[in-house]
Amino acid sequence: MQIGILGGGSVGQTLGAGLKALGHEVMLGIREVTPETLSQPRAQARPLGDWQGATGARVATLAEAAGAAEIVINATNGRGSLEALRSAGAENLAGKVLIDVANPLDFSRGMPPFLLSELSGPTSLGERIQAEVPEARVVKCFNTVTAAVMVKPDLVPGEHDLFLCGNDEGAKEVVRDLARALGWSRFVDLGDIVGARAQECFLPIWVRLWMTGGTPLLGYRIVSA
Ligand SMILES: NC(=O)c1ccc[n+]([C@@H]2O[C@H](COP(=O)([O-])OP(=O)(O)OC[C@H]3O[C@@H](n4cnc5c(N)ncnc54)[C@H](OP(=O)(O)O)[C@@H]3O)[C@@H](O)[C@H]2O)c1
Repeated sequence: MQIGILGGGSVGQTLGAGLKALGHEVMLGIREVTPETLSQPRAQARPLGDWQGATGARVATLAEAAGAAEIVINATNGRGSLEALRSAGAENLAGKVLIDVANPLDFSRGMPPFLLSELSGPTSLGERIQAEVPEARVVKCFNTVTAAVMVKPDLVPGEHDLFLCGNDEGAKEVVRDLARALGWSRFVDLGDIVGARAQECFLPIWVRLWMTGGTPLLGYRIVSA
């Protein structure tokens, strides 16, 4: 499939490389494609020019990546995600499965981050994205694990769950299929896109577990009677 990834950080690069390795065509979108942005160092990720050379995937603008895609992944910083989707263009997202991996985290006061007030409480980033692009089939998924685990769940030993939610059942099945190809087998469906409130609330817990346990290689396992 043709997959468009919005965002060139650790998540965009890791998911892009993992999906390309599975045989998908991947185009990764950033705001500006220039020699400077392709060579600029990125936190916990490579310069995108190096990533492009290593993976054989393409770096393009947000609108090009979304326009060419059958499936779009939002891997932008949560604070900028709505603006990123506006730049990608509603017409380039209409009818498409849009996997929202982003978290609305505020790092302005250092660690630990907290949820951005305008994107939490009685709303969530996932819901705001669905409202921003009503014709896209938004599925919130992968946001509760670190990038490396998204494409290699067995980095965390034992069985653990991948959460997802969204309004479109068919879109959720498309996302489960993509995740299965990456090695995921256990899914917890949190219902419609309102479930994004709960999914995004896992992040403060996740960050705390990382800080106290010393490893980002974490997974959740839900058990019930
Ligand atoms: N890191 C992880 O392991 C992890 C795990 C789960 C979920 N997440 C979530 O996944 C998302 C990506 O995380 P990340 O660590 O890869 O990188 P990040 O630093 O959070 O985001 C990087 C990307 O966001 C883009 N961006 C920021 N503001 C934008 C705006 N206003 N318009 C368009 N694009 C904008 C940047 O674009 P330019 O390149 O054009 O500057 C950059 O490519 C975040 O929401 C994060 O919370 C991360």
